[in-house]
Amino acid sequence: TQSISEISRVKNLDRVIIGKHEVEAWYFSPYPEEFGHADVVYICEFCFSYFISGKQLERHRYHCTLTHPPGNEIYRHEDLSFFEIDGRRQKQYCRNLCLVSKLFLDHKTLYYDVDPFLFYVMTVTDEYGCHVIGYFSKEKESLDNYNLACILTLPQYQRKGYGRALIAFSYELSKAEGKIGSPEKPLSDLGLLSYRAFWSETLIDKLVQFKGEVSIDELSQMTSFTTQDILHTLQSIDALKYYRGQHIICLNETVVENYYKSLKKKRRTIMPSALKWKPPH
Ligand code: ACO
Ligand code: ZN
Repeated sequence: TQSISEISRVKNLDRVIIGKHEVEAWYFSPYPEEFGHADVVYICEFCFSYFISGKQLERHRYHCTLTHPPGNEIYRHEDLSFFEIDGRRQKQYCRNLCLVSKLFLDHKTLYYDVDPFLFYVMTVTDEYGCHVIGYFSKEKESLDNYNLACILTLPQYQRKGYGRALIAFSYELSKAEGKIGSPEKPLSDLGLLSYRAFWSETLIDKLVQFKGEVSIDELSQMTSFTTQDILHTLQSIDALKYYRGQHIICLNETVVENYYKSLKKKRRTIMPSALKWKPPH
C-alpha cells in the first residue's frame, strides 16, 4: 500500500547527458512524462533546457547563446566564479536548474515557485565558457535564519572539494549581511557529512589560531555559524569539557594532528576579497 506521493517518487529518468558528461539519475524529478520513456535525456549545460534527442540539443545549441549563467557575477577568483540569479527574473532558468537538481535530491520538495529564492551558481571557466559545477539556493527572506535552502554539486564533480566551496561561500554571504545562518533542515546524508566536515574544520582552524579564551558567542560572530551548530560540532569532536563547574573548549591531540594533516590537502578556498556583493536590502 503505497501512497500517491511515494509512487510519484519512483525514479523516472535513467540517465542524462550534460555537456560532455553522462550521469545516472538518483531520484525522481518532475520532467514532463514523455521524458521518462527516453533512454537518455539531453540537457543544455548552459541553460538546462532538456531534449529527447542529441539532434534536438544540437539544434538548440545553435540558437542558445548562453555561455555562462544569467545574472550578476558576484565573485571571481582564478577560474572559479559565482553568479547571483533572482528566481523571479530568471524563472525558466531557475526552474530548469531545480529540475536537474531534483534528480540528485531525495527529500526536498521541488519548488515550482522559484520567485522567493536567489540562486548562487558556481562555475569553472575555460575557453568555451563558464561551466556549472554546482549551486545553492537561498530564500530572499528566511524567518528561520536559514542561509541556504538547497545545495548541489553535480555528480561528475563531487568529492573534489566543490561542496565545501559552496558552503564556505554561503557563510561569506552571511558574514557580509552581518547575520548568522544555518542550512535548511532536514539535511540529506551527504549534506550532513559535508556540513559536519566544514563546521569542524572551520572551528578547529579558529581554535588553533586563536590562543587564549574564546566563547561560543565569539566563535559564532567570527564564523556566522549558529551557536547550536557550534555546540553540536564541538561535541562531535569531543572538544566540550566540563571543568570546575563550567564548560570549556579543549581540542584533543588527535583532532589537532588530523587538522594539520588535512592542511596538506590542496583545496579550493573562497577568497572573501573576491566577493563583490552587497546584501540585497
Ligand atoms: N562520503 C563521505 N564523506 C563525504 C561524501 C561522501 N560521499 N561527500 C562529502 N563528504 C564529506 C567529506 O568529509 C568531504 O571532505 P573530503 O573529501 O576532504 O573527505 C567533505 O564532505 C566535503 O566534500 P566536497 O567534495 O566538498 O563535497 P561535494 O562537492 O561532493 O558536495 C554535496 C557535497 C553538495 C552534499 C553533494 O554530495 C551533493 O550534491 N549531493 C546530492 C544533493 C544533496 O544531498 N544535497 C544536500 C541536501 S541538504 C540541503 O540542501 C540543505
Ligand atoms: Zn541552452
